[in-house]
Amino acid sequence: MAHPKITIVGAGNVGASCALWAAARDLGDIVLVDIVDGLAAGKALDLRQAAPIVGFAHGITGTTDYEATAGSDLAIVTAGLARKPGMSRDDLLVKNARVVSGIIGSLVAASPEVVLLIVSNPVDAMTSLAHRVSKLPAERVVGMAGVLDSARMRTFIAEAAGVSPKDVRAYVLGGHGDTMVPLVRHSSIGGVPLAARLSAEQIGAIVERTRGGGAEIVSLLKTGSAFYAPAAAAVTMAQSILRDERRVLPCAAYCDAEYGVGGYFVGVPARLGAGGVMDVLEFDLNADERAAFDSSVAHVKGLVEKLAELGY
Ligand code: 2OP
Repeated sequence: MAHPKITIVGAGNVGASCALWAAARDLGDIVLVDIVDGLAAGKALDLRQAAPIVGFAHGITGTTDYEATAGSDLAIVTAGLARKPGMSRDDLLVKNARVVSGIIGSLVAASPEVVLLIVSNPVDAMTSLAHRVSKLPAERVVGMAGVLDSARMRTFIAEAAGVSPKDVRAYVLGGHGDTMVPLVRHSSIGGVPLAARLSAEQIGAIVERTRGGGAEIVSLLKTGSAFYAPAAAAVTMAQSILRDERRVLPCAAYCDAEYGVGGYFVGVPARLGAGGVMDVLEFDLNADERAAFDSSVAHVKGLVEKLAELGY
């Protein structure tokens, strides 16, 4: 794709950081959208003026009008509330369902071929909602979660083991919440199992800190949640889709027979290429991993059913 067109909905911390990372990677022409007058336009203009310094060639504009998003190849949806200390991501369900459902129609009307990349929380449920409202094929709707959670786990492992985070592999499956499933058995340091370098206590602490990674930042920031790493995760997924890189990344992807999920969006290894999710890859899960995954899926199903009861 010569000049991919990327819409980013929401010019708050996450959306603006997505624009920054996407521009820095020269990923495509960016349209930043926000309902607050001037917010997207101001941040886009500021970013555009970094082009001579950073050297990206694609354009970046900001608007309040979805007409400017027409013909987008991919849209990253970050709009909605972020949680505050003491809140869970699930607490955002009702308010963000209203925001996300209000956006999807305008986005898809302007860009019928778009791939939707959902970041708004609770992301597994919001991705399901975006799929239902957009009526797009499931492969063109995906949620950002596992890349972020796995990056946190990789960071904590790297710090504990004294190695570069680049050489750490870690996988977190399931819902993006307290029930997420860090897969210790499938994670490694340069291909070496974690247990060869870290104690059981260290690994246990890493698993718990990964589960609480978002809340740890919320408690420090006090006014909102993380945005640099979530945005880097979303843009990495976007790059794989726009450049047909076919990376296998943990994402909230539609699973029916896969993992026996039965028709929900939940965090699994997904191959991301042109057009969105190409397919889902299946880990061998032992009994404990399977139980934890099934429990996480059940939690996601509960959120989706709550949305249905509310008419979404
Ligand atoms: C996080 O885990 C915001 O859900 C995002 O930080």
